[in-house]
Amino acid sequence: MKKIRVAIDGPAGAGKSSVSRLTAEKLGYSYIDTGAIYRALAVFMGDTGVEEHDKIRELLKNFEVSFKIENGINRVFLNGRDVTTEIRAEKISMKASSVSAIPFVREALFNMQRKYAEVGGVVMEGRDIGTVIMPDAELKIFLTASPEKRAKRRMLEIEAKGLKVDFDELVKEIKERDIKDSTRAVSPLKQAEDAVLLDNSDINLEQTVDLIVKYAHEREGK
Ligand code: DC
Repeated sequence: MKKIRVAIDGPAGAGKSSVSRLTAEKLGYSYIDTGAIYRALAVFMGDTGVEEHDKIRELLKNFEVSFKIENGINRVFLNGRDVTTEIRAEKISMKASSVSAIPFVREALFNMQRKYAEVGGVVMEGRDIGTVIMPDAELKIFLTASPEKRAKRRMLEIEAKGLKVDFDELVKEIKERDIKDSTRAVSPLKQAEDAVLLDNSDINLEQTVDLIVKYAHEREGK
């Protein structure tokens, strides 16, 4: 049996992170959340007060991200410091989104992500994994769900934190973000030609993971 590389791409809110982490766990593979790398860079910029492009270039020379799964949580370390919670702050999401549109940042992080991809036995999740980072991945999944289903899941997450949110507003935001992500000039979100399109609007997390694990086993030659 050979260990393969699995690329999971798709829009925000399709459940990529949970699906990817659980798939990696079931396959006994490592899991790389590439969005967390962009987010960690945003935290690093905040820590050092760096905004100018020349200074971001300098920061990238001393930028290291590592991962460790602990009690089902994917812990993220920036230069050895645990930033798991910090990277999810709303202002970091915005900053990560802007910094991810800078071409030299994508280039620097490309090399970093390629290193993770060199060994087989990896599930890597992001926006451009099947198209740019691992175009030769043995299994590519484009995970999506209807804007309404994605909004519903997001609403439940927000409500679980005791907060209130308007459903129609969420659907509108998701549709706007889809347009922005898929039309941006640098590495727009798009399905790789050889990716399996998996719409999980009407199946749950476990069923989604089982499907991907089944495809992976087929490609492992099991
Ligand atoms: O998946 P996420 O929300 O954690 O990603 C954070 C930001 O990084 C998001 O704005 C999209 C961007 N990103 C990217 O451009 N390419 C990737 N491979 C992963 C994330």
